[in-house]
Amino acid sequence: MALVTAKPVAKLEPIKFKKNFTEFIGIGENGNLWVEGCDCAELAKRYDTPLYIISESQFRWEYRRWRDAFAKHYPDSEVLFANKSNNGLAYRHIMNQEGAGGDCFGYNEMYLALLAGTDPKTLVLNGSNKQPEEIELAVANGVCINIDGEDELDIIDETARRLGKDADIGIRLNLELAPLGERHGVAMHGPGTMQDQSMGHKWGMSYEQTRDIAKRVLKDMPHLHLKETHYHLSRMDKLTEDFAVMAREMVQWSARLRDDAGWIPAAIDLGGGWTYGRDYGTGPGGVDDASSPTAEDYARDVSAAVKDECDKHGLPLPKLRVEPGRVISGPTGVTIGRVGAVKDLGYKKWVNVDLSSNHVPWAFAIDWHYLIVPVIDAGAKATETVDVVGPLCNADELGKQRKLPKLERGDLIAMLDTGGYTESHAGVYNAQARPAMVLVNGDGSDVTTQRETLGDIVGRFRVPAHLLAGSFGAPTQG
Ligand SMILES: Cc1ncc(COP(=O)(O)O)c(C=O)c1O
Repeated sequence: MALVTAKPVAKLEPIKFKKNFTEFIGIGENGNLWVEGCDCAELAKRYDTPLYIISESQFRWEYRRWRDAFAKHYPDSEVLFANKSNNGLAYRHIMNQEGAGGDCFGYNEMYLALLAGTDPKTLVLNGSNKQPEEIELAVANGVCINIDGEDELDIIDETARRLGKDADIGIRLNLELAPLGERHGVAMHGPGTMQDQSMGHKWGMSYEQTRDIAKRVLKDMPHLHLKETHYHLSRMDKLTEDFAVMAREMVQWSARLRDDAGWIPAAIDLGGGWTYGRDYGTGPGGVDDASSPTAEDYARDVSAAVKDECDKHGLPLPKLRVEPGRVISGPTGVTIGRVGAVKDLGYKKWVNVDLSSNHVPWAFAIDWHYLIVPVIDAGAKATETVDVVGPLCNADELGKQRKLPKLERGDLIAMLDTGGYTESHAGVYNAQARPAMVLVNGDGSDVTTQRETLGDIVGRFRVPAHLLAGSFGAPTQG
């Protein structure tokens, strides 16, 4: 085995393709889809399909885009990558090398981040039902816990005392978002206005609960350190103004907490939900088009809102934390599938592929629009309208009514911008095995998640003894 030396990654130079989809993904000189210096047709041959492919350079690029936008507009900011959007170990290593923090959900995701060597002080643990062992892992390692339940403070207190440790805590807020009482988002979170969604979801503590937690900590728990308030609604609309409303209300809560509890949060954490647009339209129902705000737009408007609101309330500027997930990981990946049965009913044509909504769950579950292109001759003119579907025994729609060139059994297709919430969200319905994930760096590629096999699937199942005896033992009288 050859010795591997770390490649220098300090400077990233976007690649000029015949047509660029992103800085590092595009149509190469041979007409095929390329991820960095790798032809996706070759990757499919080498690693088989279905296949997730991630561009390392794009991953770093997207993180830096967010880091630099906030650094430009705000004196003290920190980007915490939402690990859930791609929680593979390799990706956490990349984020660590970039100096990114992370948002973790649950014991396992926190464990993965710690296993990758992430500085625990840059991690936060979120979750609405944290288990004692999860809290213990966080306290033992110094991960900030964002409280989101009435008895969580007591469990953290007991754990910290038992371990003889100090613990960092934040409080997840349930904002009212009154100015968004008439605004409707993209309906990813059910019906109602954004205010209804905020007040109707399971997350966060009321103002009174937040105040009481702060008072209890300051009075009785010197070994617990109040670090931040946190809020995450997830996808609102794409407007920067909506995010600015959220940021303002967090500062308003800080002013109330100062007056009522004597605590000024040193950091406010605005969570994720930020979006990015494409000229071909991506996102829920394809609404994220070229008019979508950029990282720069979000950073400018949200930073201005925080500064203005702090000024109004005579507060020092808090550290600003953001937890972008899909805006960092989404554009980094393409998912490759192979065409199987093509069925033309005359009034409708179906193109079956070996990819499914198990693998790209948002395509079907929330009608997330991902551009689909052929891998070979990726820029070929569309000649027909088809539904691209997977093999599962539900509708398994990956792309409805897509305009594509004629596809035949054996052809390859790619779904773009599928770097986030694909592998980490993948299911195993119909006992379908999950794809491999491959990381591309320049003209090199490495498996970062092994392909699941039938053996992996069978190996998880167990048959209780009485059923085995019933099937294979001596016949029993009925
Ligand atoms: C607490 C928290 N932060 C950040 C994120 C990332 O959100 P997104 O990928 O929409 O940016 C999520 C997603 O569920 C979340 O729950």
